[in-house]
Amino acid sequence: MSRIVVVSNRVPVPQGNAGQAGGLAVALLGLMQRRGGLWFGWSGAVTEAPAPPGLTQRGGVGYATIDLTEAEHRGYYTGYSNGVLWPMLHSLPHLMSFRRQDLDVYRRVNRRFADNLVPLLRPDDRIWVHDYHLMSLPGALRQRGVLGPTGFFLHVPFPAPEAAAVAPGIRGLVQDVLACDLLGFQTATDRDNFAATAVGFAGAVRTDDNFVELGGRPVRLGIFPAEIAAPEFAATAAAQMETEPYRLLARSMRGQALLLGVDRLDPTKGLPERLEAFRRVVARRTARSLTMLQIAAPSREDVAAYRRLRQEIDAAAGAINSEFGEPDWTPLRLLARPQTRDTVAGFMRQARVGIVTPIRDGMNLVAKEYIAAQDPADPGVLVLSRFAGAAAQLDSALLVNPHDAEGMAEAICAALDMPLAERRMRWQAAWAAIAGASPEGWGQDFLRALAPETLDRMPMAGT
Ligand code: ADP
Ligand code: F6P
Repeated sequence: MSRIVVVSNRVPVPQGNAGQAGGLAVALLGLMQRRGGLWFGWSGAVTEAPAPPGLTQRGGVGYATIDLTEAEHRGYYTGYSNGVLWPMLHSLPHLMSFRRQDLDVYRRVNRRFADNLVPLLRPDDRIWVHDYHLMSLPGALRQRGVLGPTGFFLHVPFPAPEAAAVAPGIRGLVQDVLACDLLGFQTATDRDNFAATAVGFAGAVRTDDNFVELGGRPVRLGIFPAEIAAPEFAATAAAQMETEPYRLLARSMRGQALLLGVDRLDPTKGLPERLEAFRRVVARRTARSLTMLQIAAPSREDVAAYRRLRQEIDAAAGAINSEFGEPDWTPLRLLARPQTRDTVAGFMRQARVGIVTPIRDGMNLVAKEYIAAQDPADPGVLVLSRFAGAAAQLDSALLVNPHDAEGMAEAICAALDMPLAERRMRWQAAWAAIAGASPEGWGQDFLRALAPETLDRMPMAGT
């Protein structure tokens, strides 16, 4: 069997029990630990004297990482990846902040990844590149003579062509990523939007639902929704009931209904809109009948929009508590700190309502985790944004528009009042959608589609 080489910006080299907030790490870590292979990417460190990749072996996985210089980190990660591509891909162009030199640095860092990776490669490796930070990498690898099966998976959404066009440089990046054999997306909408962009702006031809062709070479497009290990997560959540964090939270609830949000502190997650919906819920319900816990792990604090968001939600949370709080009751608890994934699993089990209302999200694994964490005999209710990739699978949740605070407030109240029979029915349908899947299955599906035998069997365009 050929070796798997995963390439991603963030490489979660296992270190003790530290939690990893971020869907990519959660989705890939288990797969790599079980399968073995090489994982290449950024070390997470910023240094002024870039050295060759540092190598660490843990179990069957070799981790090879490089540091970034301050200027590379600013241009490639903070500037172009998170200041241009991330907002564009999530259809939030007003948050974009473009500087021409950031695009140059982005391309240069992608080439540096290629320069450092190529010497580590073996001829029969299957290379799997991840996410928007590395859209230029497939082209750079081909230019350096890498011929083996190369795939790319986009963890985040891809918008319609007119929305994609707002990112300066996107045309070149789409051409570079089309150097792959296989491109994977979370949903059919993302795949179709990408294909339309490749046709409209990069000179590709769509030959079928699952193929585009560039310069006569077919590139396969596939849909691979990211999954969680639902039975394991359910067991973790149940086991948490015996732990101190679970008990302390339960004791402090004193019989109130717990509403829970768990996110990275990110403009795509719809936090201000969610707090506004919660404000409206509190205004309607009896004091002390409910409490909301919002866990928001700080993320990308070098990006101005993220710092502004922190101030905005701190102010909104303070306003809710000062308006509705009582001497012995605080309606909203906002924690801008990550918690371990196990602790979060327990809190999810305890929550009567899980509120997952991103403005836009590639998948949103938190939604799947909330379902997995529930007690099947007395499950809570998921209030889910229809603009999360997860909504395509979890359509038995209460689906909401995250721009409509009143509509969200109504859905949260409906969740609080929902009879047991309906809660069970909705939960069972959601559980059925996620129980049989796993991150390993997700990865195997992608890697199978990338296997040389499968690629050889791909129809050539026009046949
Ligand atoms: P994203 O990739 O945009 O961060 P996902 O919902 O797909 O969003 O994945 C996030 C992962 O990180 C989930 O496994 C979730 O449990 C974890 N996570 C997110 N926020 C936190 C937090 N505040 N504390 C602990 N874990 C978190
Ligand atoms: O899932 C989307 C994603 O951007 C991943 O690529 C990333 O690892 C995660 O969110 C967390 O963001 P960051 O790596 O910028 O901290």
